Amino acid sequence: MSLENLKQTVLAAIAEASTPEELEAVRIDALGKQGSVSGLLKTLGQMSPEERQVQGPVINGLREAVTNGIAAKKAAFETAILNQRLATERLDMTLPAPEAPRGTVHPVSQVMDELAEIFADMGFAVAEGPEIEDDWHNFSALNIPETHPARAMHDTFYFPDKDAEGRAMLLRTHTSPVQIRTMTSQEPPIRIIAPGRVYRSDSDATHTPMFHQIEGLVIDKGIHLGHLKWTLETFLRAFFERDDVVLRLRPSYFPFTEPSVEVDVGYSVVNGKRVIGGSEGWMEVLGSGMVHRRVIEACGLDPDMWQGFAFGTGVDRLAMLKYGMDDLRAFFDGDNRWLQHYGFNALDVPTLSGGVGA
Ligand code: DAH
Repeated sequence: MSLENLKQTVLAAIAEASTPEELEAVRIDALGKQGSVSGLLKTLGQMSPEERQVQGPVINGLREAVTNGIAAKKAAFETAILNQRLATERLDMTLPAPEAPRGTVHPVSQVMDELAEIFADMGFAVAEGPEIEDDWHNFSALNIPETHPARAMHDTFYFPDKDAEGRAMLLRTHTSPVQIRTMTSQEPPIRIIAPGRVYRSDSDATHTPMFHQIEGLVIDKGIHLGHLKWTLETFLRAFFERDDVVLRLRPSYFPFTEPSVEVDVGYSVVNGKRVIGGSEGWMEVLGSGMVHRRVIEACGLDPDMWQGFAFGTGVDRLAMLKYGMDDLRAFFDGDNRWLQHYGFNALDVPTLSGGVGA
């Protein structure tokens, strides 16, 4: 076969190859070890220099034509395969990216973490107590008399059965029993806060049967109202992240404190909205007072040696004041849109250095 014939035959075979496998067979036939073109290349070695000078370029030209032909056909196959994939695997890049599922930290949890951070800085530990309490811890030890209206069925959820010691069981109505549990289990000096759930048989626009409180308790020697005022002022300034938070202490009555004070915080009106800070108006934020000596006695401590102060407030309310929600019931609806709007990023851990705000 003449070189020209061989070339045409091989190029025709390349053109006819309809699959990559067929093309590979053609390549082996021509350029493989025993291939027709490889065989010709081997003959160059036995030629005289003159002959080689003539035949060399021709045979090498043949090899090159075949190699290029195969490469071109291979590329054509690859393009065809790619086009076929592009046609079947269509992806509409104009579609919006699907939203990644993302939970949020509930504002109540966030505010409790903020409070723990603020009080930890003042040397307070976090204490806890059971939500199912007995009436001694919830009422009697706190000097709340049998006749107190808070003890009535219409205010408190009672369980049908009493405990082993004959005490009525109930869902705690406030976090104050944690004061008792701490004083009966720990030696003074004591500095604790106790955040948690509390329950009252009450439900309307501003009351839910379950809500959250935080309790504070300090028991030490020589504690007086000045310590209470400084602590609350420092706490509220850190919490609302403003230096112009002003407190007003009003005489009040709680059975477990004597004297008792209600604490108002001053607000200003900015664009028709109340903002904490300044003193254009006042709103009540806390109940507090010096721990009643009968409470200290009930816990087995000597009230002539140990004094202290306590305070309690609603966590949900603090969250509303700080973050601007206006409906308490929405806190417990579990509505994902509300949670996406008011919830916090799980990585937004409150720290005093990074800011306890959002
Ligand atoms: N326990 C009270 C309540 O639920 C709040 C309270 C008032 C707590 C005065 C205190 C306090 O520790 O000293 O309304």
